[in-house]
Amino acid sequence: MSDALHPAVAGAQPSQRAEKNPEAPLFEGDYRDRFERVLSRYPNKQAALLPVLNMAQEIRGWLSPQTIARVAELLELTPAYVRSVASFYTMFSTRPVGKHVIQVCTGIGCDLCGAQAVVDKLLEATGTRIGEVSKDGKYTVVEVECLGACGFPTVVQVNDRVFENVKAEDVEGLLAELD
Ligand code: FES
Repeated sequence: MSDALHPAVAGAQPSQRAEKNPEAPLFEGDYRDRFERVLSRYPNKQAALLPVLNMAQEIRGWLSPQTIARVAELLELTPAYVRSVASFYTMFSTRPVGKHVIQVCTGIGCDLCGAQAVVDKLLEATGTRIGEVSKDGKYTVVEVECLGACGFPTVVQVNDRVFENVKAEDVEGLLAELD
């Protein structure tokens, strides 16, 4: 059995991949197995909500009203409750996103080391505003509070990849690496 199927890690996969399919079936095939293993770790279905939302976003790219309704149905919760949880955490997207979700840490550590210049450069280079999808569908830039690598500012996470020590002048090269 691979680690990815062990209940302890079944819901701990990256929640953003470059391949996004908002129409993909939820929790079928291998994902059905992961879903069941996640549920087995918790005393009730409600307690499994965060890892299940994480998996739903991994599968579909973002949490649409339809996806939220399906998660609510599977976990025997109301859609309003699931939406309230999904919209509370910045790692969940409740709006469509580009192929590459670019999260820039603007927490205090990164902010003191030029994070805003990195954000500005990314927005300029992608032709977007915060949270928008670029016209070519490739990019969405968002700000996040801390990516847990405070010793390496500015930290940028693109889908499931983390880039450290990013400066504004690195942005063009970073985007070129993604295509
Ligand atoms: S403050 Fe930027 S990673 Fe923590």
